[in-house]
Amino acid sequence: MTETPVCRRLVGRTAVVTGAGSGIGLATARRLASEGAQVVCADIDESAGKAAADEVGGVYVQVDVTDPEQVEALFKTAFDTYGSVDIAFNNAGISPPDDDSILTTGLDAWKRVQEVNLTSVYLCCKAALPYMRRQGRGSIINTASFVAVMGAATSQISYTASKGGVLAMSRELGVQFAREGIRVNALCPGPVNTPLLKELFAKDPERAQRRLVHVPVGRFAEPEEIASAVAFLASDDASFVNAAEFLVDGGIAGAYVTPL
Ligand SMILES: NC(=O)c1ccc[n+]([C@@H]2O[C@H](COP(=O)([O-])OP(=O)(O)OC[C@H]3O[C@@H](n4cnc5c(N)ncnc54)[C@H](O)[C@@H]3O)[C@@H](O)[C@H]2O)c1
Repeated sequence: MTETPVCRRLVGRTAVVTGAGSGIGLATARRLASEGAQVVCADIDESAGKAAADEVGGVYVQVDVTDPEQVEALFKTAFDTYGSVDIAFNNAGISPPDDDSILTTGLDAWKRVQEVNLTSVYLCCKAALPYMRRQGRGSIINTASFVAVMGAATSQISYTASKGGVLAMSRELGVQFAREGIRVNALCPGPVNTPLLKELFAKDPERAQRRLVHVPVGRFAEPEEIASAVAFLASDDASFVNAAEFLVDGGIAGAYVTPL
């Protein structure tokens, strides 16, 4: 999984990646750059975002994805620096502990998660689309989640609802702009082996097991396995993949009884 991919499908393309400082966004910034893209790394966390941009030879833009002006400025920087906006990976998101069961989740926690996970995707698509429409070309990939298509008794109510919104919005945009050469897809990752998840599950193996039992392949994804799906969706290899619910979940959403 760590070997350098041989394909160079994105030479000359400009990609904006939000949440590029960590996890799926970081792995994707690396992968898109390795395929030849110029990568604009956006993150609210300056040191992580800058480090990502330095590593991939791209540009860092500090942005809070909930702020319309900052999001506009992000896509303008991409265009002004590289002359096009070809790929938008709208990926930044949060999953805070105070977003839990509907019985205990307050309105503030609900709203914050909706802002960062769903409103941000609306803002990023709205900012990216004018560039893509002028070019007559573009690929937008919005990070939803497998919880957009399945229910969990271990609820994070606002997170789940936000990802359902990302899925429905992506589908609609994919349909609306298809004849302008723009594809919009919702990426639905299964659980990913991020540092946060590793730490959480190391402390609580029972919690990990409750989830792992549902994964046919018997493990969580590595961020690089999600990044390779994004690179595919970004590339012309996915020229007929549009308005899709693109599951990269090790088979979770298709499973009833999993192997022992
Ligand atoms: N990790 C998983 O298991 C998993 C599974 C399915 C979907 N997802 C989704 O994938 C996306 C990335 O998740 P991850 O696990 O890589 O997360 P992560 O926490 O490792 O990285 C998220 C990045 O987004 C940035 N960010 C947070 N709020 C921001 C804001 N307001 N403006 C700009 N940047 C902001 C953070 O600084 C961080 O660098 C999220 O949308 C998440 O919901 C994750």
